[in-house]
Amino acid sequence: MQESIKLDQVIDRRNTNCAKWDTMDQVYHSQDLIHLGVADMDFKAPQSISDAFQSCVDHGIYGYTDINEGFYEAIIRWFRDKNHTDVKKEEILFCPRISISVSLAVETYTNPGEEVIIHTPSYDALYEGIVKNHRVAVESPLIIRDGKYTIDFDELETLVSEKTKMYILCSPFNPVSRVWDREELEKIGAFCVKHKLLLYVDEIHGDFTAPGIQFTTALQLADEVRDRLIVASSPTKTFNVPGVIVSYLIIPNGKYKKMLEEDIHRLGMNNPNIFAVAAVEQGYRNSDDWYDAVLTYIDENDAFTREYFGKHFPEFQIFPREGTYLLWISYEALGCSEDELKEWFIREAGVEVYMGTKFGEKGLGYFRLNLGTTRKMLSDAFERMRKAYPLLKK
Ligand SMILES: Cc1ncc(COP(=O)(O)O)c(C=O)c1O
Repeated sequence: MQESIKLDQVIDRRNTNCAKWDTMDQVYHSQDLIHLGVADMDFKAPQSISDAFQSCVDHGIYGYTDINEGFYEAIIRWFRDKNHTDVKKEEILFCPRISISVSLAVETYTNPGEEVIIHTPSYDALYEGIVKNHRVAVESPLIIRDGKYTIDFDELETLVSEKTKMYILCSPFNPVSRVWDREELEKIGAFCVKHKLLLYVDEIHGDFTAPGIQFTTALQLADEVRDRLIVASSPTKTFNVPGVIVSYLIIPNGKYKKMLEEDIHRLGMNNPNIFAVAAVEQGYRNSDDWYDAVLTYIDENDAFTREYFGKHFPEFQIFPREGTYLLWISYEALGCSEDELKEWFIREAGVEVYMGTKFGEKGLGYFRLNLGTTRKMLSDAFERMRKAYPLLKK
């Protein structure tokens, strides 16, 4: 397939103000690292998106831009065809980034000192959205049962107090790559109804599922849950356009939607940048082939990585990947500290990954590896690690 051939192309991303390659080079004072940390992909975006951007550049006028009908229709189409869920135009709200909407949701719907439940280890922006707004993050650590991360529902009941107002869920879950099944989501929904909590669900990774795994959007939950539900999503992971800065919220309850809408206006964030609408329209309507090819490529990268690690790094235990393009890997069997492992990755192997404590204390003993790159880049990184591995085991 033509698209998959392009995915194999190694493209130099250095000197493009790239967070994954340039910023991380600066952080580690090296230009010789292979970066498998920051969660974007090293693939060119779908041609349909680039063509739409090109027309805009050819036009040459970059005036103020508004959301158009196509923006809403594209989101409605994607949810209908991919998630078998009907979304109404009036439920959709543009917000530049999920990192912004989570922070705003906490600020808008809760008061300082009130509590928000979040599972740990946690994607940092979701956690920071709570604590940087001077709310209390009530941590519900995920537990490992039969080699799989799961929610400790018994403990969850003990965490709620009168001050608890909200529950933030990452679904699929970055960094451990779980895709919550319908039963788990229903339990979370019922918990929120019982304790009168608002439920903010970040579904940005919802388009990436491993073979045989079904993603369920929280929008499919019962009406009593939908009534207190704020779903955040974006095509930026799906079509590898996070530099465009675009996301949206789906809020079935008109009262809650209005509250956030007013805040987005108050902050002057209601206009998208000129490329944002095109990215949503073209991604969600004209890029299915590209998306299918990327899903297959990620699955193959996953299989390749597991085989390589099984052969050469037996002490690195990779968790099952249900969703996302990220692998969560335990190094507990090595008995080294996080600092030692990090030093080894950077100084001996020349490979950069995210150390687990980037996601809080509960991430200690793990690292996260991004599969969104060419097979060549992965195999070069693994070769480097293989050569340096004896140094780690000393
Ligand atoms: C779970 C999750 N939410 C949100 C984001 C970032 O979204 P945005 O760029 O819209 O802030 C990421 C990026 O890694 C993510 O993993």
